[in-house]
Amino acid sequence: MSDAEGPDERIRVAVVGLGIGRMHVLAFHELRKRFRVVAVCDVDAERATEVAGWLKGVRAETDPEAIWAAGDVDVVALCTPPSQHRAQVEAALRAGKDVICEKPLVASVREVDELAAIAAETGHHVMPVFQYRFGNGLQKLLALVDQGVAGRPFVANIDLAWRRGADYYAAPWRGRWETELGGVLLGHAVHLLDMAVQVLGPPAAVWARTATLVNDIETEDSAVVTLRWANGALATLSATLGSVPELSRHRFTFEHLTAESGTDPYTNSFDPWTFTAAPGHEDAVAAVVDAHVPGTEDYIGQFERYADARANGGPLPVTLADARLMLELVTALYTSSREDREVALPLAEDDPSLAGWAP
Ligand SMILES: NC(=O)c1ccc[n+]([C@@H]2O[C@H](COP(=O)([O-])OP(=O)(O)OC[C@H]3O[C@@H](n4cnc5c(N)ncnc54)[C@H](O)[C@@H]3O)[C@@H](O)[C@H]2O)c1
Repeated sequence: MSDAEGPDERIRVAVVGLGIGRMHVLAFHELRKRFRVVAVCDVDAERATEVAGWLKGVRAETDPEAIWAAGDVDVVALCTPPSQHRAQVEAALRAGKDVICEKPLVASVREVDELAAIAAETGHHVMPVFQYRFGNGLQKLLALVDQGVAGRPFVANIDLAWRRGADYYAAPWRGRWETELGGVLLGHAVHLLDMAVQVLGPPAAVWARTATLVNDIETEDSAVVTLRWANGALATLSATLGSVPELSRHRFTFEHLTAESGTDPYTNSFDPWTFTAAPGHEDAVAAVVDAHVPGTEDYIGQFERYADARANGGPLPVTLADARLMLELVTALYTSSREDREVALPLAEDDPSLAGWAP
């Protein structure tokens, strides 16, 4: 921007870790009226140089310390392997940056609380990534629920059938408790569970069975889960990383409507969703669906809402409390699977599993 257009007030971002971080760079570029990518960082110098070359005026770094020390970075988008997040989020906050951090945020509920305390102490914010939330199909269902049109929830069916093989697990951090922190439940199904929790709220109890069937890894790659809500609603999740055709699917049965998502594995929160009204509820359902104004989706949807929240001082679109809730749910799933019992939520304040779910 030239001086004639006034000062450049765009949010200055550095993206650290350039696997999925490439998608962050592209999303920020798509939102270039709000954000400016000033630096990218990867310990792999070739990756850093390549991605920096995509856009004008982006410098390549290979040491995240240079990002924390940079005076021209407002926000760090952290896309490094999971076990690095806890220390790197703290370092960035203490260096005066806000942080957007990929899932899984950290290795325990207690670590989320530690980061919340550091965020409060430093006055900077952490926004965990849950980009599936912002699909327009899911947003329509949320409007139907919020406006009281859906009625009582009965049952939800959640399917995750993805495929991950040797090439995926060639990255040395994947498939190990110490570095990936979990398997399909923590790393993949968490997106679909977050969508369900948006619709139904936090569950009151879960029962999970996990298995490692597909790949020669430490963490689980297949799981089945039942969830129960205080209002009586029930849900099942089945998840595997061994499916030949890939899909993600939600089906929510409410008193006054049934909502069915599309089946694209990574964008099933997007349109088209099917809303079938119970007799007598057709007009009410159609009115809410027709009134829905489509918003931006995926990473762009989350980052745009983040920029709005910064501009108007409103709540972030995804908060540390959201990440805490999901990690508490995942903690309960791993405990349930290991101890072969139902686990009630929320976990007690003195529950030892709040310090970590890893075996
Ligand atoms: N939200 C989603 O849908 C989604 C999708 C994929 C991955 N993820 C998450 O993103 C994170 C990264 O996953 P990925 O698939 O991109 O992994 P990846 O291995 O493909 O990429 C990670 C990159 O980080 C770099 N790196 C490692 N340590 C670093 C450090 N200290 N400083 C700078 N760079 C470093 C690596 O060289 C690599 O290029 C994980 O937490 C993963 O769970 C989220």
